[in-house]
Amino acid sequence: MSQIGILTGGGDCPGLNAAIRAIVTRASGTHGIEAIGVLEGWDGLMEGRVRPLDRDAVRGLLQRGGTVLGTSRRDPYVHGAGAASVAPTLEREGLDALVVIGGDGTLRTAARLGDEGIPLVGVPKTIDNDIAGTDTTIGFDTAVQIATEAIDRITTSAESHDRVMVVEVMGRTAGWIATHAGMAAGADAILVPEEPYDLAEVAAIVRSRAAHGRRYSVVVVAEGIAPPGGGRITAQLDAFGFERLGGVSTLVAAQLEELTGFEARVTVLGHVQRGGVPSARDRVLATRFGIHAADLVAGGRFGRMVGLRGDEITDVPLADAVAAPRPVPRDQYDAARIFFDSRTVPAANRGATRRSARTRR
Ligand code: F6P
Repeated sequence: MSQIGILTGGGDCPGLNAAIRAIVTRASGTHGIEAIGVLEGWDGLMEGRVRPLDRDAVRGLLQRGGTVLGTSRRDPYVHGAGAASVAPTLEREGLDALVVIGGDGTLRTAARLGDEGIPLVGVPKTIDNDIAGTDTTIGFDTAVQIATEAIDRITTSAESHDRVMVVEVMGRTAGWIATHAGMAAGADAILVPEEPYDLAEVAAIVRSRAAHGRRYSVVVVAEGIAPPGGGRITAQLDAFGFERLGGVSTLVAAQLEELTGFEARVTVLGHVQRGGVPSARDRVLATRFGIHAADLVAGGRFGRMVGLRGDEITDVPLADAVAAPRPVPRDQYDAARIFFDSRTVPAANRGATRRSARTRR
């Protein structure tokens, strides 16, 4: 093993650069393996766009947001011929293996390339925190902090105006940010893709709070919830065929306004959740993940993804990690739910979610 390629794919997040820095430093400093950066994710690998990455090149990256390698949602199985479309770059650049830093889509592609014989290891990143095989992903902690601070600020404005504030956070298949930021900021209701919801019940919370002197409410929704009334929000595809979400909060707010008579406002936090410097926790996680990824590569342990279990850095088969998204565990959502206005929840249902319609993925 003398040279590896590093790529970042999918949506960016805080902590990617810290991971790149750690992989390069560990690979070259401990194992004598040189690294090359592949630009713009799989696109760069298919098109042969790379840049050298030595220890000097990664200095100062620890705290820097985004990814210095760039990223994209192009995919060798959608926009190319799978392994055959990335092999020429591996060959030409003399890359013995890849470290792929990505979310569910990027890692799923990595697993397929691994099956086709490309030696690689995965590093999980996504603010959505929905990857199996790890307790948390790079970027999640920072996103929760950003969303919590935003909800705190929105709450004081809600109180001043006697308004219902609907805050939409990211989370396509799982409501991790909504649950954690909502819990941290004391949201009055939280709607997540994993749980069925009833806006009449949210309206009852709003009315009950008003009857008890709190004429404002803050409702946090994950972007991936089904729109009120069911169905699916009209999917807008981006240039790579990726379904763009966002906007369900507008429907939630309109319906709550109608049901409660309170003025409702919407804030969609969007990409602000993915920008800026990583939290200390994300810097440490990315650093530990990067070190372990370099060790896996050096040991020839391909087809694996690094992960966190409790306080331990571990690794799992990539195939297991991408088999299904990881939902918010019931007990975590229930912990947040305890603080919704219990006067509106029938005694029989308190402390338990009314989950029945949908199964957890
Ligand atoms: O990376 C995951 C994610 O943040 C999702 O929560 C969100 O739906 C999506 O990315 C947005 O992606 P894009 O940057 O392509 O708009």
